[in-house]
Amino acid sequence: MKIIKRKFDAVIVGAGGAGMRAALQLSEAGFKVAVLSKVFPTRSHTVAAQGGIAASLGNVTEDNWHWHMYDTVKGSDYLGDQDAIEFMCRQANEVVYELEHFGMHFDRLENGKIYQRPFGGQSQNFGGAQATRSCSAADRTGHALLHTLYQRNVYANTQFFVEWMGLDLVRDEQGDVTGVTALEMETGGISVLQAKVVLLATGGAGRGFQASTNAFINTGDGLGMAARSGVPLEDMEFWQFHPTGVYGAGVLISEAVRGEGGFLINKDGERFMERYAPNAKDLASRDVVSRALTMEIKEGRGCGGNTDHLLLKLNHLNADIINRRLPGIREIAIKFAQVDPIKDPIPVVPTAHYMMGGIPTNLYGQVVTPYNTGPEEVIQGLYAVGECACLSVHGANRLGTNSLLDILVFGRAAGKKIIEDLKKMPHHKKLHTNSVDMSLARVARLDNQKNGENVAQTAEELRKAMQKHCGVFRFPDLLKEGVDKISEIAKRIDNTEIKDKSKVFNTARIEALELSNLAEVALATMVSAEARNESRGAHAREDFSIRNDDNWLKHSLYFKEGRRIDYKPVRLKPLTVKSFPPEARIY
Ligand code: FUM
Repeated sequence: MKIIKRKFDAVIVGAGGAGMRAALQLSEAGFKVAVLSKVFPTRSHTVAAQGGIAASLGNVTEDNWHWHMYDTVKGSDYLGDQDAIEFMCRQANEVVYELEHFGMHFDRLENGKIYQRPFGGQSQNFGGAQATRSCSAADRTGHALLHTLYQRNVYANTQFFVEWMGLDLVRDEQGDVTGVTALEMETGGISVLQAKVVLLATGGAGRGFQASTNAFINTGDGLGMAARSGVPLEDMEFWQFHPTGVYGAGVLISEAVRGEGGFLINKDGERFMERYAPNAKDLASRDVVSRALTMEIKEGRGCGGNTDHLLLKLNHLNADIINRRLPGIREIAIKFAQVDPIKDPIPVVPTAHYMMGGIPTNLYGQVVTPYNTGPEEVIQGLYAVGECACLSVHGANRLGTNSLLDILVFGRAAGKKIIEDLKKMPHHKKLHTNSVDMSLARVARLDNQKNGENVAQTAEELRKAMQKHCGVFRFPDLLKEGVDKISEIAKRIDNTEIKDKSKVFNTARIEALELSNLAEVALATMVSAEARNESRGAHAREDFSIRNDDNWLKHSLYFKEGRRIDYKPVRLKPLTVKSFPPEARIY
């Protein structure tokens, strides 16, 4: 097999908002940057983000970063690291104004300021009245953001490798990262991209569940790359189920609908969130709302013949508001649920949406080695940002619209830190051929596999198992069985065969490679979830139904080698302000 070698200052795997924000920083500083993307960059999953970017601009209601920080810590069920949360919330206004100056077309208020809408878990004055914090471009905020960043990157000469998939990290004997192996999807050719720095920005892995709001490309590629090269994965038990995915299709119906005044009802027409969250109601945090929907269905108050979904009502809103603020939602509801929300409510169910865990990093996106080997140490040459990373700013439950904020703040912070690194590195480190050979052998094994498992069937089994064993509520026997089931499926995934090589070889090959990444994520999730004997944020166990700060105020670290779990403390100390100690979480 002929292997092409290329050299860059930095290689970024993934062209969503996080990767593009970092790339922009580097290209504008004159560095040679390659961004690999499995799809055309503006089709990366950030494009699907709907509701907004959280920032305490205070354009509609009084606000400040400290209130935002409190809400984020509380939303995280106190698992978020408070230094990182302070860092993010303090920089929110700046990154939003920066985007505005890049040319992003935010919606406007009558006075010309950026339009903001309320979202779940946002409060004024540390848990008081609802705040209005999400800066939006109708219900297509991610679309506007991604296009803005792409245009700036093109102008700054970022080099995009479109329809390229990252395969494996290349590490040398010291463990430093010196490049990646990658696959050109059109030709099937494999290249080694040598770099002084590699940044993983591959997004989430929601495609590991049967019902998901995620794009087909969200297969946890960066996590697979990290896990295979010995990097642990942090807090993988915490998966966010968005309360309102279209029933039967999974497509996202933005929380912006509830922010604009929509609400959920059960089969009796009851606004049931009033019972679960008397103050915040439909704008409680997502874990709370998703559990409420699940309970309504379980207790027989779901809608439809099978009583298996709820209704999201917005037909009491002015049609002009729906058309102006929620045009995409109307389109999605008509196309995927066959209802026009101006007239009828939308059938919805909780749907896998966001991975709070990921590759452990510090505040500057540098990947850090496990705690248990002594103080955390940076892996030289390796960075991660966005959904594939775990800082942790979202802890056990992310607040809506904090993810676009996360990618902007930490994409930029990583970009700045990489520039510092690059200035100290006049030369590339030597490529370690062992590491490249291992990656090539992995692909060759897949290409040559005979009488192996069918990729599509095994993928379907994996998704079904994740949905059943690791859903909104988690049960002890299902978790235990889930670990065995996923382990057994993962073993088979090691032996998948590309069928019908003459016709669909390259596409099937990519699906098989993606599935091997999903398997790493699924294993990490199941093993970590089974081990955490408490309920916190999105991890709701039937047998340990309350949060246990005495024993479990700690992050989990899953190691592929030996499927071992370790733990590290939560950083409760913010950078400059007083810590928010864990309290009962009431909405
Ligand atoms: O509901 C939404 O618009 C999703 C936003 C988010 O996940 O941050």
